[in-house]
Amino acid sequence: MSIARLRSHWGFTRTPFTKDLAPSMLHRYNGHQEAVARISWCVDEAAIGVITGEVGAGKTVAVRAALAELDSSRHTVIYLGNPAIGARGLYYTIVNRLGGVPRFYKASLIPQAADALAAEVTERGRKVVLVVDEAHLLAADQLEELRLLTNADMDSTSPFALVLVGQPTLRQRLRLGAFAALDQRVALRYAIPPMTAADTGDYIAHHLKLAGRSDTLFSDDAVARIHKAARGLPRAVNNLAVQALIAAYANGAAIVDDKAARAAVTEVTAE
Ligand SMILES: Nc1ncnc2c1ncn2[C@@H]1O[C@H](COP(=O)(O)OP(=O)(O)O)[C@@H](O)[C@H]1O
Ligand SMILES: [Mg+2]
Repeated sequence: MSIARLRSHWGFTRTPFTKDLAPSMLHRYNGHQEAVARISWCVDEAAIGVITGEVGAGKTVAVRAALAELDSSRHTVIYLGNPAIGARGLYYTIVNRLGGVPRFYKASLIPQAADALAAEVTERGRKVVLVVDEAHLLAADQLEELRLLTNADMDSTSPFALVLVGQPTLRQRLRLGAFAALDQRVALRYAIPPMTAADTGDYIAHHLKLAGRSDTLFSDDAVARIHKAARGLPRAVNNLAVQALIAAYANGAAIVDDKAARAAVTEVTAE
């Protein structure tokens, strides 16, 4: 089943349930909005924040939405999509992103990174926002390095905003005694909740509307079944909704009914 075929069958003007939505096209359900507001608060306060959520809960989407709202002339964003970059990696990325040439030895790279961060604020008047996505993957030494960078001048203000984004294990990990010093400096913690059943219905309708169908295309019981199987997680809803559209097409149905949703659940959950 080609996407083009599916599009023309359902009369979509663009493919629905894709992951490449522009920030202005996102569905602003409550959990998403709360996450965006909190990430923005961290940026404003140059605070340390920890945002967690299950795989596919919408963490990266929320971060991107919050960053898109920033005035780019006054902020420098350093976004680390994958922290598995080795011992020098964090410092290297910071220096590099701030326009410096990273020094080779770690002992000189560390002060270089701290200086570059400070200069961004004091010399260029820009706020630095360091976002570490998939932060549950940060190694112990990297967490310690982040802590050292955040209290460079030993007072209560941090030279930059730090947003750690990761799976729920991140929170538990920070609670371990070894990271107490960093954990105590965390000013904000937010766990992105799954969507409620009502959110999921609105979410599906939102994606369909973006694709040019504002009429009811999914039956209520189909939405309920998809919500339950996806446990309210947006990425899983996307996958199930696409499979349900394919199943309904194959069944010759005029809308996505419960039969199509059931087929989608079987398709997606059976390996
Ligand atoms: N607010 C939203 N509006 C529209 N789509 C969303 C929204 N939040 C999440 N999604 C969809 O769910 C997918 C998974 O979100 P993502 O942020 O990548 O999850 P996570 O980072 O928590 O694993 C995205 O690719 C996107 O398609
Ligand atoms: Mg992500």
